[in-house]
Amino acid sequence: MSEEQHDVRLVVNGVTREIRVPARRLLSDALRHDLGLTGTHVGCEHGVCGACTILVDGRPMRACLMLAVSAEGAELTTVEGLTEPDGSLSPVQQAFAECHGLQCGFCTPGFLTTITAGLRENPHPTHDEAREMVGGNLCRCTGYQNIVKAVERAAAITAETAAAVAETAETPEGAAR
Ligand code: FES
Ligand code: FES
Repeated sequence: MSEEQHDVRLVVNGVTREIRVPARRLLSDALRHDLGLTGTHVGCEHGVCGACTILVDGRPMRACLMLAVSAEGAELTTVEGLTEPDGSLSPVQQAFAECHGLQCGFCTPGFLTTITAGLRENPHPTHDEAREMVGGNLCRCTGYQNIVKAVERAAAITAETAAAVAETAETPEGAAR
């Protein structure tokens, strides 16, 4: 007997997507297999490694612990949706590149989404807070030092960008816009 299928509507990286899935389809599998967004990685498939972390209505969640049907109507951001509107790297992505925060890269999408959400909540983390921000994600390659550096660098890039935007707005040319 074939499994009953369910229609699910999701907003993924700003685009409304509709899929038809069995009730047991994990959200991580729906993203990867039904929507072709393979940037979300699956490691442990039981909520431990954090590789599958995506943002659900802005909050980091383990996609392997959610069913696709339970995400009906939610706004999801995967690693593919982190880049800036002009296609350039986000501050967290840029910081990972600058600080060599990855080696094999398998864990990286989960770190990028986790840190993006973490810095929205705490834009100026102390060193200990930066460590804590990534404490729920596992990386087998880097030893974490460069990942923590990347958290701090991403916070600095975000602050520098905000200061530059504020300065532009204060100049006569900027104010006239
Ligand atoms: S694959 Fe989801 S937490 Fe490891
Ligand atoms: S870079 Fe390889 S697991 Fe983190």
